Amino acid sequence: MTEQAAAPLQPRSMGTSTIRLDGRLKVSGAAPYAVEHPADAPPLHAWLVQSTVARGRVSALDAQQALAHPGVVSVLDHTNAPRLEDTSNGELAILQDARVGFRGQIVAVVLAETLETAREGAALVRVTYQAEEHAAELRVDNATYRPDSVNPDMDTDTDEGDVEAALAGADVVVDETYRTPYEHNSPMEPHALVATWDDAGEGTVLDLVDSTQGVHGVVSALAPMLGLEPGQVRVRAPHVGGGFGSKGEPHSHEMAAALAARTTGGRPVSLAVTRQQMFALTGYRTATISRFRLGARSDGTLLAIDHQVFEQTSAIREYAEQTASPTRMMYAAPDRRTSHRLAVLDVAVPSWMRAPGEMPGMFAHETAMDELAVACGVDPIVLRELNEPATDPETGKPFNNRRLLDCLHRGAQRFGWSGRPAGARASADGEWWVGTGVASATYPMMVQPGNSARVRSLDGGRYSVAIGAVDIGTGAWTVLTQIAADALDVDPAAIELEIGDSSLPAATVAGGSSGTSSWGGAIVAASQLFRNDHGDSPDPGVETTASAAEDPVAEEYALHSFGAVFAEARVHRYTGEVRVPRLLGVYSVGRVINPLTARSQFLGGLTMGLSAALFEESYRDARFGHIVTQDLATYHVATHADVTGVEAEWLDEEDYVATPMGSRGIGEIGIVGTSAAVANATYHATGLRVRELPLTADRFLP
Ligand code: MOS
Repeated sequence: MTEQAAAPLQPRSMGTSTIRLDGRLKVSGAAPYAVEHPADAPPLHAWLVQSTVARGRVSALDAQQALAHPGVVSVLDHTNAPRLEDTSNGELAILQDARVGFRGQIVAVVLAETLETAREGAALVRVTYQAEEHAAELRVDNATYRPDSVNPDMDTDTDEGDVEAALAGADVVVDETYRTPYEHNSPMEPHALVATWDDAGEGTVLDLVDSTQGVHGVVSALAPMLGLEPGQVRVRAPHVGGGFGSKGEPHSHEMAAALAARTTGGRPVSLAVTRQQMFALTGYRTATISRFRLGARSDGTLLAIDHQVFEQTSAIREYAEQTASPTRMMYAAPDRRTSHRLAVLDVAVPSWMRAPGEMPGMFAHETAMDELAVACGVDPIVLRELNEPATDPETGKPFNNRRLLDCLHRGAQRFGWSGRPAGARASADGEWWVGTGVASATYPMMVQPGNSARVRSLDGGRYSVAIGAVDIGTGAWTVLTQIAADALDVDPAAIELEIGDSSLPAATVAGGSSGTSSWGGAIVAASQLFRNDHGDSPDPGVETTASAAEDPVAEEYALHSFGAVFAEARVHRYTGEVRVPRLLGVYSVGRVINPLTARSQFLGGLTMGLSAALFEESYRDARFGHIVTQDLATYHVATHADVTGVEAEWLDEEDYVATPMGSRGIGEIGIVGTSAAVANATYHATGLRVRELPLTADRFLP
């Protein structure tokens, strides 16, 4: 692969509010989602049969009645499903043996002529289990397993200086435990795909039209397990109705569809996970318990930070959330320690959910900071000014562009922070206590290696720009077109973007807020090399494929984005109901490439943080091991009536250390700190400190 150093890109289309290029298709219902994709032949429909025990073995599986049901074509289970070549991924290696690792795991797949008959057939499959004792409850005393690293590959523990001595010598100590619940990503479009297996000819054997955040990631996960070369698997995802991380890596339903398709003689298999099944099968955020200790001088200057995280993983596959990662770089303190310990449970595999690590970790950290501000009698913004580090406390590197204080100051001005009563329970409006709170936000800036883009000249001064990126609803179709236009110095209308297909040049996942940075860098590199090689008026049909060379300058810096979140909370004196009439986020994220789609990302992140603050909680019944709140009636997500007065703005800046576009990522930072800002506002309103999400009404009643 040709590597090209990408030169800084001057903005022309970048920075303008270009409307979504896929907007008309979407609002008119013409954008095909995964299972709406027209298949070559009428598909068979798959329905999943899920285990009803949390741990044990399938001792017998009787498919006779199901197979006798009109329309049912076949039933796959561990006795007759195609064998996998590699079963090391315990989440994806389904139907290979009789073991059951969690309640809700796929134990059979029913294929039928219609969705209805598939479902009826699944209800007729009789499964008998030999149940074993299971563990499904996260506690501090069973979270004792120390993983080798935490997501994605960070240190499990850090320890600098002598935290215990510093805490012993501190004037003020905050020592509290903060909890966040299990949460489910709940994107609008359920996880779904159409799979076709055709090994008659050369080339593609397995073809998937999938709802995923990364087409190449699905290929690289599934191909070796199925004994296929990467080039024999093609994955397309032209439009995706959200994912929030839950479509960042393939889950077992994708393997179920692939295995099923292998048995149908070439007929496509359509599989849509139901909303209820999503609560068992397609990823979620682990609950977290954070023991947080801050030691400070009486004026609020931090001396020690200690963050001990207790959370859970699954016995069938490890996932360790990096909850203490923001604690390592957020504030100055000479003595500091972080750790992660896991309970290994017989439960579904936790995975990414918008800002894994930063979201639960910063709820703990920013609530603890608010408690320290109260204990020291200093304003929470002044406390953060006092503890602003000169360099990254974790690595010692200079920050590329740390403007946390600018965000706090701009937010304070816009929100009307000055004149805020220092004490809690100081303001009321009728039967409502009224308070305000603030929290910091941060998210690392990441560029993933392994992206390349292809630029080809077309007739009439037009250009095809291709990369296997995925637009999960964020605006990638639009923003990548803007970047390509500026990189080729043409109008966006001259760009024909191709994305969402693994047959295009390699692209990494729409995750870690790294998509635009990683894909955009490749587009800039390929475009600049194309101009070098072919000039300003190339013949139609010439093309250049290139990836961006790693930028050695970026290595010298700690690359992060920052933000400040302000919330007003009203807590009802008699019912404990919490409302948030005002929520403001101010962000430092480098250049904003498209203010229209960026605003959606920030408002969406803030809304998701508000939703986490007030409502979201997946309740696991440890006696049976599954999540019982398995629909949107019992798993509450904020609705329009809950979301009022949410505003976002950003600092006018550019960051060419981060990317040639001058941008950093924006997808996740909006959720970070938001729940803490709301919780801090409820404390200011009521004088009651709630250290556990969500902030339900009962927590504010005597
Ligand atoms: Mo994001 S949770 O990295 O898709």
